Amino acid sequence: MTSVGIDAVEIWTGKLKLDLPETFAPAQGDDPEKYTKGLGLEASSFPDTYEDIVTMGANAAKRLMDRKGLAPDDVGRIDVATESAFDNSKPVSTYVAGCLEQVYDGDFHHANKGERKFACISGTQALDDAYNWIAAGRNRGRAALVIATDTALYARDSSGEATQGAGAVAMLIDEDPSVVALSHEQGYGSADETDFLKPQQQFPSVDGKRSMQVYLARMREALEDFESQASTHPEDFAYVPFHTPFPGMVRKAGLLGYRHIARNTDLETEIAEEIGRQPREEDFDDREGYEEAIQSYMDDLKRTEQYQDWYDAAIEPTLSISRQVGNWYTGSVHIARVSALLSAAETGRGLTGDRLLVASYGSGAQAEIHAETVREGWREEVEALTVDEQLRRRYDLTFEEYERVHDAHNHDLDTEVEEFTQPSGEFVHAGWGRMNERKYEYVE
Ligand code: CAA
Repeated sequence: MTSVGIDAVEIWTGKLKLDLPETFAPAQGDDPEKYTKGLGLEASSFPDTYEDIVTMGANAAKRLMDRKGLAPDDVGRIDVATESAFDNSKPVSTYVAGCLEQVYDGDFHHANKGERKFACISGTQALDDAYNWIAAGRNRGRAALVIATDTALYARDSSGEATQGAGAVAMLIDEDPSVVALSHEQGYGSADETDFLKPQQQFPSVDGKRSMQVYLARMREALEDFESQASTHPEDFAYVPFHTPFPGMVRKAGLLGYRHIARNTDLETEIAEEIGRQPREEDFDDREGYEEAIQSYMDDLKRTEQYQDWYDAAIEPTLSISRQVGNWYTGSVHIARVSALLSAAETGRGLTGDRLLVASYGSGAQAEIHAETVREGWREEVEALTVDEQLRRRYDLTFEEYERVHDAHNHDLDTEVEEFTQPSGEFVHAGWGRMNERKYEYVE
């Protein structure tokens, strides 16, 4: 089999922006540095009143199809990953296909469509499904479209409000891919957890602090599973893109991950000259003593040159888009990968043949860690992205406007709010049909 992976990627950000230090923090009576330094966020993206998960997903997909010169017949599968769906039966992918059929000759009637749900990890699961479909030889030469799209909105005045975001990532999965090739090297960490859920409700119920613990526990479990079949030496991977609910979360995961993957390697020996070897549980009489020793070791590890160099090279570049857009749930780990590739392109770094260790996570909860290999066409692909321009062009909301736009997207409220931006060359939500279905149209 030839390699299979991501052949092209496109991003569509919600067209509004909430500035966290300038606009949100003062209204909340908070120190702006809680957001910029603590959570690691500068701004959130929001959908304008005519945007939703369908428009953002379809707009990202159209951009991708146009750039790659694709027709509907070239696509044999459309999977949408989302945790913001508004229908328990009809999948978002049917709406997206309906949108695309308005602007292309031909249709997607012979494409298999579906919707993937497992909180934020479903974007990666949809990628895995597409890989399996192609690797099994069931694609008849066609590619798969995987779209991760979310409006990650939280209830007003809830702890998650600062980490909101909205946007879509469309990925074309194909043989002989240009961006990255997926591999068989995967590890899972999965358990029945109650940390973040939406039981038939739009805004999540979240146990914020616990969700962070669960994220770290499942990541560790996935890493152990991954290690049972592949090497994880820190120097084996150019970048480690994580699911990024906010960059501060990845800062914690990065440190724990590094301790884990440096253990029993030449790196641990080198670092031990400065701060000693990592504590081993068997050397302690009780768990409490061991945990204290670990905490103290981590505080020291964080300050070592080896760790800081690794973090600056492998993790920091994955966070640049996230800082400007907040949490995109299913798309979040995929914008972390794009951020890393963009950083490599900007700094002229050669990446072809290098490996990425991709760490996905979904509440409820499951983590997947897998390895990817960067392919020759990566630079051309990421240089075609317009993400910087899209971010610059967002309408900067005042706090009062933010309150109104949040209400406009609240399914329990019936609020008329004027749009803030003018749609052009994109799909918009244009109203409702006779069975309460959403109607979409393309605006030239
Ligand atoms: N200057 C610098 N730093 C400051 C600061 C200041 N003035 N004020 C606070 N901070 C730091 C805090 O010390 C803290 O950092 P550490 O954790 O490293 O100590 C950070 O800023 C955040 O401050 P708080 O912990 O006080 O923030 P909070 O309690 O208001 O909210 C949260 C944090 C609970 C994660 C909240 O944002 C939340 O509920 N988010 C939604 C859930 C979430 O994203 N969970 C992540 C894991 S689950 C997941 O990944 C799935 C998903 O996508 C949802």
